[in-house]
Amino acid sequence: MANFVRNAWYPAAWSRDIGRALTRREILGDLVVLYRKQDGSVAALEDVCPHRLAPLSMGKLKGDNLECGYHGMTFDCAGQCVRIPGQPIIPRTAKVRAYPIVERLGLAWIWTGDADKADTAKLYDLGQYHDPAWSAVEGDALPIDCNYLSLADNLCDPAHVSFVHLSTLGNAASEDIPVEHKRTDDGVLTWRWIPDAPAIPLFQKFGNFTGNVDRWHYYHYHAPSIAVIDFGSAPVGAGAMDGRRDNCIQFFACHFITPVDESRCIDHWLYVKNFKSDEPTTKAMSDQFRVAFNEDKDILEAIQKNEDRPGARRPMRIKIDASPVQMRRIIDHMIEQETAVAGATAA
Ligand code: FES
Ligand SMILES: [Fe+2]
Repeated sequence: MANFVRNAWYPAAWSRDIGRALTRREILGDLVVLYRKQDGSVAALEDVCPHRLAPLSMGKLKGDNLECGYHGMTFDCAGQCVRIPGQPIIPRTAKVRAYPIVERLGLAWIWTGDADKADTAKLYDLGQYHDPAWSAVEGDALPIDCNYLSLADNLCDPAHVSFVHLSTLGNAASEDIPVEHKRTDDGVLTWRWIPDAPAIPLFQKFGNFTGNVDRWHYYHYHAPSIAVIDFGSAPVGAGAMDGRRDNCIQFFACHFITPVDESRCIDHWLYVKNFKSDEPTTKAMSDQFRVAFNEDKDILEAIQKNEDRPGARRPMRIKIDASPVQMRRIIDHMIEQETAVAGATAA
């Protein structure tokens, strides 16, 4: 059985990519077609016609309804068939699944579980994204050929930064600094401080630091699909380690994960920063993030290939794995709970 938490909001696509053209996505193994209705809101339907299983995304919109491109069966936004050409009676089975979908943080979020459990109060938000003192920059939808939990491992793991991202987000000063973590209400928080060390390359470029800095990263993981990394630097002794952030450079790097299937996922990333920048500077900054996240992609895809080899050895655990191990326990527990509830309902 697939290793997915179903009752959750996942990013389906960037809002900027959804319009009146039909957009096809695969999410948790489900084929989904997305489009924007005439009132501007988004519809999400199963992308499989119940007649001969043609993708509805090969059809066309008729107002807010979707007409199959093969024989013209037409479905409304609730997934109900409203027309079968040449046939006045519409059978009860003539429908497709409709998914709850809402927009926030520049993304359309889809609920992949029981529709009656969809609760927008559970949708993630980040206060700084909306704060005019901060500035938000949209990134990409980065496809990664690995299981989404492998990406989630990476996003509960500050230790890799000292080795994978030496040209952008890391440097050797943090190699031996222990990583700490704790369980939170809906996930796990992983962090470490690197006091009195040279600024990382990104902050050497954009931070105007003249000497060493106190640097932090806090990895906030909210199960199953949200990872937000609060990282920044301040001049040594400026009070950042005591909670003062008035003389620092600070980013929230957001990774919103969409599992595609068991061995593929999408990293929808954006960042929010505590300073403004002109367009060329912002572009240069985004390119640095792009380099870094592609470094993660390279290593995660190579790991997936090794894991998929016949007779692959089991990974060993070291101290820095405490947080990813806890993250996976949380996911297992959520899936067990969903399975138990589904079993009880079926009984
Ligand atoms: S496959 Fe859709 S109407 Fe025939
Ligand atoms: Fe990374």
